[in-house]
Amino acid sequence: MTAENLAVVILAAGQGTRMRSSLPKVLHPIAGKPMIRYAVSNAMALSDHPPVVVIGVGADAVRAELGEEVIYVVQSQPLGTGHAVAQTRQVLEGRVDLILVCYADMPLLRVETLRQLVEIQADNDGPMTILTVISEDSMGFGRVIRGPDGRILEIVEEKVATPEQLQIRELNAGVYCFRQEWLWDHLGRLPLSPVGEYYLTDLIGMAVAEGGRVQAYTIHDVGEVQGVNTRVHLARAEALMRRRINEHWMLEGVTFVDPNTAYVEADVVIGRDTVIYPNTCIQGKTTIGEKCEIGPNTVIRDGQIADRCRIFSSVVEQAVLEEGCHVGPYGHLRPGTHLAKEVYIGSFGEVKNSHLGPGTKVGHFSYLGDALIGANVNIGAGTVTCNYDGEHKYRTEIGDEAFIGSDTLLVAPVRVGRAAKTGAGSVITHDIPDGELAYGVPARVRKKRDQQPGASREGG
Ligand code: UD1
Ligand code: CA
Repeated sequence: MTAENLAVVILAAGQGTRMRSSLPKVLHPIAGKPMIRYAVSNAMALSDHPPVVVIGVGADAVRAELGEEVIYVVQSQPLGTGHAVAQTRQVLEGRVDLILVCYADMPLLRVETLRQLVEIQADNDGPMTILTVISEDSMGFGRVIRGPDGRILEIVEEKVATPEQLQIRELNAGVYCFRQEWLWDHLGRLPLSPVGEYYLTDLIGMAVAEGGRVQAYTIHDVGEVQGVNTRVHLARAEALMRRRINEHWMLEGVTFVDPNTAYVEADVVIGRDTVIYPNTCIQGKTTIGEKCEIGPNTVIRDGQIADRCRIFSSVVEQAVLEEGCHVGPYGHLRPGTHLAKEVYIGSFGEVKNSHLGPGTKVGHFSYLGDALIGANVNIGAGTVTCNYDGEHKYRTEIGDEAFIGSDTLLVAPVRVGRAAKTGAGSVITHDIPDGELAYGVPARVRKKRDQQPGASREGG
């Protein structure tokens, strides 16, 4: 209902000096996403208009991250929160009735909280509604001063508060919803504070002085307004976000053996009855199906894992696993790996840019790169695709039902036929026709009169 009447301003022009970083503060990741993205997605959920992001220091990096999704307004000097909002007038005036202002460095704010705040403002005709939080720890926030009748009178910044005001536990979270005409009209009249900044918070006192009523929406979950000014705060925000993400998935039907050591990033999706074991990082755009067992000691980045897969003590990057695959311990699936149903990768298997057909087994100590491998192939221990000559990469093809003996080197480009076999220790430099056996160094295809070579057994 308010989505078309509302625009969201995100303040991101602060220096972030205390992060001591070459990366702008608002681009530091929380649960795998630059923290400003949380504010942007909240804004997009609330409003039909693109969010207006006020940038200053690090403007180019923020533009590079957010691209064309938002409107940028540059605040060339950090003259305070009031000054920052004033810069957005040119792009917003007259477009909407309500303006929501929030910070890029408060990634834990929930969209439901912001929606409540906007609803309160939409339902009354006062000039503004503010978000307040009740907290024992003041976190350096401004204090909310209320009169004897409970009406809000002003916000006093911690730096200038009296000892009595410092006792107040209701704090200004720094999130506001304004009636737009009133906002533009009053921003220009903000006084310069003693520290040389224009404080957005001074608007509250101005509204009250005019007889306007300032409403508040008060929350009790301090975690939601955890701001990030230092890397200590960053770690705190990360821990809170991690807990929120893990609890979300637990309520969706995922078991976490130890949620404190499961690091699931914000964009990950996990299916029901999957179990996440300790020390497991699930990152990027990973999706995991139902009834999987993931971890312990596993990293998955941008993986697509179908139902009933088991991955433990392994690293999976940009790989696709169909149902019922097994990886680990110590498997490494690199970008471009596709495992069809029920593929088995045992200890120290590394696979890159390769497709393995259903039921294929790679038991032990193998490297498969740039390979197209059929169904039900048995890859013996120590098999290596020699895919690189120092300049170019070459492909290896192995047909269905082939049996690759232990310690086979497949010198690509090369093709092993359907149901073909290689002897243990062979070096395959030429294609092997379907159903034939090749062995030796370099390998030759067995002639009809040859003896069966003794050692084509798999590695165990
Ligand atoms: C502000 C509030 C304080 C509140 C607290 C909650 C004011 C004067 N005070 O204090 O009452 O309790 O937030 O977190 O508003 N920014 C700009 N341009 C500027 C200055 C700031 O874009 O010129 C941005 C910063 O990037 C930051 C946000 O505004 O994201 C807050 O600014 P900051 O100076 O840190 O305000 P606080 O001291 O935290
Ligand atoms: Ca701050």
